[in-house]
Amino acid sequence: MLPLPVLLLALSSPTPLFVAAAADPCVVIAGKTFVHPSDALACLKSFPFNETLRQNVLTHNIARVVDFFTFEDYYLQSPPPFQDSTVNIRAALANINTTKFATDYDFNVALYDFATRLNDGHTRWFPDCYTSYQNLLPAPIVSLEVNGVQGVYVVPDLVEFVSLLGSSYTDLIGIDWQRLAGAQVISIEGRDPYAYVDFIAATVSGNYLSHNVRVNSVFSSYRLTGNAYSQRFGDFAGPTGVAQDSLTFQVILVNSTKPETVTVPYIANFLGAPFTDGPSYWANNCAANEDTNGVDFKSGTAGLESNTVKRRQPMANIVDKSTGNAIGLPSRFEPTLPTVGGDQGVIKSYILPGNKTGVMFVGSFGPNSFDGFQRDVVSAINAFKAAGVTRLLIDLTNNGGGFICLGQFLHQYLAGTRIGYPGFVSTARGNPLARKIVASDIELGLNGSFSFYTADNWAFLNGTQMPASFNYMTPDVPIVINGKLDATSQRFHDTCELSFIVPIPSNPPFDLQNVAIVSNANCASTCAMFSTLMNERHGTKIAVFGGNPREQIEFKGMAGNQVLEWKDIDSEIKTGNLKDDPLAPADLLVSGNFRHNWRTAWSFFDEKEPIAYVFELPRFRFAYTPDTYNQPQKLWQFAEEKLFA
Ligand SMILES: *[C@@H]1O[C@H](CO)[C@@H](O)[C@H](O)[C@H]1NC(C)=O
Ligand SMILES: *[C@@H]1O[C@H](CO)[C@@H](O)[C@H](O)[C@H]1NC(C)=O
Ligand SMILES: *[C@@H]1O[C@H](CO)[C@@H](O)[C@H](O)[C@H]1NC(C)=O
Ligand SMILES: *[C@@H]1O[C@H](CO)[C@@H](O)[C@H](O)[C@H]1NC(C)=O
Ligand SMILES: *[C@@H]1O[C@H](CO)[C@@H](O)[C@H](O)[C@H]1NC(C)=O
Ligand SMILES: *[C@@H]1O[C@H](CO)[C@@H](O)[C@H](O)[C@H]1NC(C)=O
Repeated sequence: MLPLPVLLLALSSPTPLFVAAAADPCVVIAGKTFVHPSDALACLKSFPFNETLRQNVLTHNIARVVDFFTFEDYYLQSPPPFQDSTVNIRAALANINTTKFATDYDFNVALYDFATRLNDGHTRWFPDCYTSYQNLLPAPIVSLEVNGVQGVYVVPDLVEFVSLLGSSYTDLIGIDWQRLAGAQVISIEGRDPYAYVDFIAATVSGNYLSHNVRVNSVFSSYRLTGNAYSQRFGDFAGPTGVAQDSLTFQVILVNSTKPETVTVPYIANFLGAPFTDGPSYWANNCAANEDTNGVDFKSGTAGLESNTVKRRQPMANIVDKSTGNAIGLPSRFEPTLPTVGGDQGVIKSYILPGNKTGVMFVGSFGPNSFDGFQRDVVSAINAFKAAGVTRLLIDLTNNGGGFICLGQFLHQYLAGTRIGYPGFVSTARGNPLARKIVASDIELGLNGSFSFYTADNWAFLNGTQMPASFNYMTPDVPIVINGKLDATSQRFHDTCELSFIVPIPSNPPFDLQNVAIVSNANCASTCAMFSTLMNERHGTKIAVFGGNPREQIEFKGMAGNQVLEWKDIDSEIKTGNLKDDPLAPADLLVSGNFRHNWRTAWSFFDEKEPIAYVFELPRFRFAYTPDTYNQPQKLWQFAEEKLFA
């Protein structure tokens, strides 16, 4: 199946095996966790360009999935201050369709960059073949305030942090990297460090419409993933892929005053499936597998059994490839306070010294246990109440979202039932295939166990759940965006309350004046919706740390609504018996995922505006310091003093 000319030659001639092995660049890196990026790149570039695969991926799959993407027409001229995300999506696809590419890698990287630069973490192309390496530079950077002045620094905890990767990483570096710990960065690749950071934010980071939110993603930061503290390398020191071999810095080392120039190598970290050579790399990482495409939930064991019992939970999240290898926060920087109220899920809660302020670090809205998250919230609030705590500080740093209904749950629990509906007014796109799916689902008698398109997933704006047989796509509601007429569904609410398993108080457990949020604004999807609800409906105090000090920063990252993975929209189509429709996207022949933002959340401030395009500033903005960038407890104590004074 693999069209490797070198290999075919090797097989069809009596060439000794070792020559064949040396000729296959994938053999050189097989079985190794850490490799030089140029060696990995040689393997990734060994697969020739294939027009059949281009047409499968681009014309028959992605271009048809874009029909469902809620924000397509906004991109024709993204409203200020998001102008840098203006892209004519159809023209860009047509361009990639006619560009001459030497390798399959080049084609996929062009598509990956196109989708990444939409800066919508819900709408991305992940070709598994080429996202299998994360490039790691032993010099992650942060923006810190030192003696009242903000600047870019190599992370002060460099030695402890990078050493956690082990000697198979550090042995490859080949320079005395430890001396860079805490060094001030004067320039990167000959440019002002903030200008270089802006460049990475514009070209590499993706995920967030707001430029300065992306800037924080470029820097190293603490996070809570998989019930453990870890530290992101950041998009500067830990990008996906193997595009770059090294970077040249000008730095002033700690205790020095003289700038010096250093060139630091990237070392690529393999996160994909094991392989031994080019053909097995392709088979295990690049070819479509049984999980790539969707299934018909009506037939077989595909999901019928589990889905007849439970409602399917809508998701809103970004994909952070760097969590594939979550590198621990050096343990001495973790909070020293004991956790309260249970810490088995994605939330860790603490009571700050003095017993006035309770902290909930909500690392994600995507726990393993949907119900467990709700119980964790209740037990944390109960523990705070029992300790006489009167103020609540919520840390949303690097919260990439998760279950939409857990964001609405946390909002409702904190604000009480008296506020009524805890979510946003929402719509899906009413493109012709979407309308056929809804009509077909009705004809087939399906419900929310089988499809996100059936109306019983939603409620009318008066709160009454729609019957599954209701067609909310007909009549559609036309909207005009950038001069283009777009058919949209009727407006609806979520039905999250059907999934709340704990009693919700009618009044807020804490005076909402005494609830505050801190984050690095890398708060995506469900997290962005939660913090936007707290801002738009309760005027909650929100503080954002970091960013480029010369620019404003929003408190929210990607603020789309429900996201569908390629597999999800394909399952909707197959379950609705519409896979043969000429508008239906084809099954992918390669292992990959073109996910898309499938629903819009409309702002309370202006119901004609998606919250994604409402630029919302936090009430407080702080720089990180050498103490707070990687020590959450110190950040919370700082915030307690500043926000509750
Ligand atoms: C291109 O890919 C298709 C699908 O995997 C395959 O059938 C075909 O042989 C490939 N073409 C060439 C020229 O290798
Ligand atoms: C790509 O080009 C082919 C012809 O080469 C055409 O059939 C197809 O529609 C084009 N796809 C897109 C998305 O422009
Ligand atoms: C810098 O100087 C201080 C004070 O003399 C010393 O404690 C520290 O170890 C020095 N750091 C480095 C990296 O040389
Ligand atoms: C959908 O219908 C099936 C019976 O066909 C039922 O078992 C299931 O509970 C229903 N799901 C929902 C979410 O109402
Ligand atoms: C806070 O609560 C703990 C546990 O109940 C108690 O031991 C401590 O003395 C309290 N501290 C203050 C300042 O009230
Ligand atoms: C809510 O609105 C729907 C659609 O207009 C209507 O059918 C239903 O009776 C209303 N429910 C209540 C409780 O008013």
